[in-house]
Amino acid sequence: MSLESVSTRVLIIGAGGAGLRTSIELAQRGIDCLVLGKRPHGDAHTIWAAGGINASLGSLDPEDRWAIHAADTLDEGHFLNDPTAVEMLARRAPDRIRELADWGMAFDRTDDGAINQRYFGAQSFRRTCFVGDRTGQALMDTLVRKAMDLEVPYRENLYITDLVTKNGRAAGAVGFDMDDGHPVAFDAEAVVIAAGGHTSLYRRSSSRRDENTGDAQALAFNAGVPLRDMEFVQFHPTGKVTPREEAGHLVTEAVRGEGGRLYNTEGERFMERYSPNQMELDARDVVARANEQEIRKGRGTDNDAVLLDISHRDADFIRERLPRMVEEFAEHGIDITQEPMEVAPTAHYAMGGIEVDFETAETPVDGLYAVGECTAGVHGANRLGGNSLIETVVFGQVAGTHIAETLGTRPSPSLSEAAVRDHVATQDALAAAEGRHAPAEIMNRLRGLMWKHAGILRDEDGLINGLRKLQQLRADAADLQVQADRTSRRYERAQNVRFMLTTAETILRGALERTESRGAHARTDYGEKNPSWRQNIRCVPTAEGMEIDFQAPGAPSAPVQEAVDEEHELDYHHLE
Ligand code: FUM
Repeated sequence: MSLESVSTRVLIIGAGGAGLRTSIELAQRGIDCLVLGKRPHGDAHTIWAAGGINASLGSLDPEDRWAIHAADTLDEGHFLNDPTAVEMLARRAPDRIRELADWGMAFDRTDDGAINQRYFGAQSFRRTCFVGDRTGQALMDTLVRKAMDLEVPYRENLYITDLVTKNGRAAGAVGFDMDDGHPVAFDAEAVVIAAGGHTSLYRRSSSRRDENTGDAQALAFNAGVPLRDMEFVQFHPTGKVTPREEAGHLVTEAVRGEGGRLYNTEGERFMERYSPNQMELDARDVVARANEQEIRKGRGTDNDAVLLDISHRDADFIRERLPRMVEEFAEHGIDITQEPMEVAPTAHYAMGGIEVDFETAETPVDGLYAVGECTAGVHGANRLGGNSLIETVVFGQVAGTHIAETLGTRPSPSLSEAAVRDHVATQDALAAAEGRHAPAEIMNRLRGLMWKHAGILRDEDGLINGLRKLQQLRADAADLQVQADRTSRRYERAQNVRFMLTTAETILRGALERTESRGAHARTDYGEKNPSWRQNIRCVPTAEGMEIDFQAPGAPSAPVQEAVDEEHELDYHHLE
């Protein structure tokens, strides 16, 4: 098939909240850009973030302020976060929310017309703005509409396989059109990676199966960018468990934010034992491990779940605040206004990812930017619910601004024909591969491996074993049986396998290196947090593969440190 060549000033890979917000900033500043997505416009993973988006508006709790939002974020991240990123996030969040409201996002409102806010885990105040339990969908609808108004070009069903760099600078990217399979080369002055996380590396995940496959992280790594904090994978406490559904889809934290309670099958509200002050609204890692322990100790249901119950609240209130949950469970014959839901931990979010300078959103490769879940630094060792959506719009705006202000001021290499030819030849070879292992088989084995060896509880033997199995998987993946049309799911999965193996290795290696328990990284052989481990682990690409090094995070600014020292904390029992 013949190669299509496309030229744009800024290429944005990924069409969720982060990619779209970047494109809007560029378009408003008159810069030509092109947004690429693997799926139809508007269908990005952002729509699965349900419960809300954080900003210290103080609509209900006027004592809240941006510095306390920053302090809560650092506290939840166990101070491995990049303090500059956290401060930027918390300071800019209120403006980004007001901007979204101006663009038509229909936030829930209080009786006096202020943007309403709900409790979310481990946050000192009601800070999470929401649109029922469809906040991600509402955010996407708003951004898609705005991008369309600005006539931002969008190309759907486009899979990027490789970034192209020249003399240490981004030159563009190569991929294929999933509609008819033809190869496409994109020449660009700047490239933005906004392609999400990697949690579909896990057997149970809140992601759709063929998305969040670590493309973003692997693309950057293969282009020479270090990945950091990869050992930190967030397990959401409440993944859906229904007999008829693939386990793991999200039961939003908003259920607990609106008063939902967790019980084991002995009828015990077990969070009283694990976290008597913050109860179900403690940090996600704490609640997820509590759920996991109850299940492992035999106090879970026959489906290996615990019970989440909000039926003590008024049925109309539940229908108004949690309409999606009501609908989704009704499809399984469960009326959540009357009976509990079965839930269990599920891989939900990647705190680790691409290294960037948050003041510009640029990676160490000139002209290559990254925004959103694919980056590392905002969340440290664990993320506050509601901080992911706000991250997309805050740093999308940062990236768009910096690119617009600097484009044209630095030399920009054009795509070399030889490099494009090599990448296209690799695509061809993969489509024709006649080996013995189906891509789906490799993916399934990898997901089982990651769940077992790099899951919610880890130890040295398990991680070493996981790395050994990964080497075997790599060998088997070199012997793939594809022989498929480039428009097929089979071919897409064969491409996914490449990314998944690279990303998985960085998670396993980071987790093995970190001999302590901190945030979402829980080691049964090193059960305590070790202060000397207040360091970020970096996986640095080398000619031989990767090497590990370490970097200490910076210190918070004076106003943030002051808020940290004030030790704000949610006391759950005030809510009852
Ligand atoms: O539970 C939720 O609604 C998820 C939100 C988030 O991850 O930010």
